[in-house]
Formats: sequence, structure tokens, C-alpha cells
Amino acid sequence: MTTSPSAAPRTAAAEPVQLWSVRKVYGSAAGEVTALDDMTVSFQAGTFTAVMGPSGSGKSTLLHCAAGLDRPTDGKVIIDGTDLGPLDETALTLLRRKRIGFVFQSFNLVSALTAEQNVALPLRLAGIRPRGAEVRAALAEVGLAGRAGHRPGELSGGERQRVAVARALITGPAVLFADEPTGALDSRTSRDVLRLLRSLTDHRHQTVIMVTHDPVAAAHADRVLLLADGRVVDEFATADLPVRDTGPASHRADGKSGGGRVPGPARRELGAEAIAARMAALEASC
Ligand SMILES: Nc1ncnc2c1ncn2[C@@H]1O[C@H](COP(=O)(O)OP(=O)(O)O)[C@@H](O)[C@H]1O
Ligand SMILES: [Mg+2]
Repeated sequence: MTTSPSAAPRTAAAEPVQLWSVRKVYGSAAGEVTALDDMTVSFQAGTFTAVMGPSGSGKSTLLHCAAGLDRPTDGKVIIDGTDLGPLDETALTLLRRKRIGFVFQSFNLVSALTAEQNVALPLRLAGIRPRGAEVRAALAEVGLAGRAGHRPGELSGGERQRVAVARALITGPAVLFADEPTGALDSRTSRDVLRLLRSLTDHRHQTVIMVTHDPVAAAHADRVLLLADGRVVDEFATADLPVRDTGPASHRADGKSGGGRVPGPARRELGAEAIAARMAALEASC
């Protein structure tokens, strides 16, 4: 991901999500709020990005505009090579169903349907007859092979969110968006969901864009975008974060710490501290 989509010719697969000079203004002339202020940003295929920033900084608006759930006031959103602007509501809905996965903080599962039926739903809506084996494989991938017949009310919060992830992925979307996916979960089940998102990028080359206010969640991402007042004010790769020296594993030839030699979970913990520090600096300067 880069804050400026590359000027060179792109293939849809290289940068499946691009925003060009996107503005989103809510309200009437009497009380306008500029939720996104001329935002130009793109996201590379097979990367996991965390979007952070103070409350009201435009995180959800960014996700909703990028996912075609809301239309920008100005500017252009390109998903998987398609400019969303000229699409009418029907075309936009069809594109969303096939090319975009969305996971909400509140799961948004259909309570009367089983896990298996919930996962199959996007296929049915897209007019595709779901194959049982495919749906069960999707549930197995999120670690819920044994829960196919359970309704949401019979599942824990973490399990519900994993069903929601399987449902979001069943159509093979170009991008998976998640708005505070661990916001309603305790820290242990949050970790399961975050590891799942991480593994989707690592093992399926899935592009993932997640809004979170939690530095621990953000530390699972490859890159972090910090928003304030509808703009990107900071952007960094988690691998570049300065982390404290934790022993031989983190030593480099030049004697400095960091550089990606700290093993995964330990590095993530240290990354979370560094992300929290960047957030605190941002909030102090606002
Ligand atoms: N539907 C809406 N109508 C009016 N104002 C809105 C609406 N949605 C969001 N806003 C405003 O836009 C700004 C950005 O909101 P949002 O994207 O939800 O921020 P975040 O997710 O970072 O907390 C806030 O000032 C918010 O009050
Ligand atoms: Mg929000």
C-alpha cells in the first residue's frame, strides 16, 4: 500500500483498492462535516492494512466509501479495476456481492440460519447454487468444521465472527474489509480472529483492510495508516517499527535492535507498544 496510487500502469490485481482525491461531506450547508478530505490512497494485493485514528477521524467512512456501501461526494474509488462512480445501484450491489467482503463489529449474522446457511448466503444472493463441500471447507478454514449446524445464538462471540469471516470470503472477494472486527470480543477470542485475518494474507494472499483502535490488533497488519480529520497523517510498515532489544534474536550485525529478527508474537507485542506511542503522539498534536 502507498498513500499515492502508483503513476505507472497498474493491473487490477496489483492494487485492488484505489481511492483518488476522495471527499465525503455529510450534512447540509448549515452543518457540514467533511469526513474524508481529499484522500488519495491505495492498497496492494496480498497485504494486510490497519486503519487507525481518533474517533471521528473518518475511518468508517473510508471503509464504507472504499467498499461501495456509501458514495463519495467527490473523487474516484476503483475496486479490482472497476471505477465505482458510474455504476448504478444494481451494478454496485452486484460488484459488492462478488468482489468485496465486509466484516462488521457486530457480526451481522442471520440469527435464524445455521453457520453453514449464513456462509452460503452470499452465493445464494449472487444466484450461485452453493456446494455443500465448498461451504464446509470455508467453515473448516476458520476452524469451525464442527459448528456447521449451529445457529449464531449457539456460538461464542469469537465463533460468530469467524463465521462472518467465512461468509465474507465465500465469493473469493478481491478485498476483505473489517470495521473493528474485534471490538465486541475479549482479548483471547480477539487474538483468534486476528490470527485468522493474518493467516488469510499469509496463506491466501488475501487483501485485508481493517479499522481498529487497538494497537495490538494493528500490530498483526503489515502496514498502519493513521487518520486525523479525514486525512492520512501518518503511514508506516509494522516491520519498520523500532522495537526494544529483546535478546540475541533481535541483534543485528550493527548492534542495533529491530530489523525483523524478533520472532512473530514477541515482535507483535513490541510493535503494539510502538503503534500506541505513534497514536499518542498523533492525539497530542491534534
Ligand atoms: N451518516 C452521517 N451523517 C453525518 N455525519 C456523519 C455520518 N457518518 C459519519 N459522520 C461524521 O463524519 C465524521 C467521520 O465519521 P466516521 O467515519 O464514523 O469516523 P470514525 O470511524 O473514525 O470514528 C465524524 O465527524 C462523524 O460524526
Ligand atoms: Mg468508526
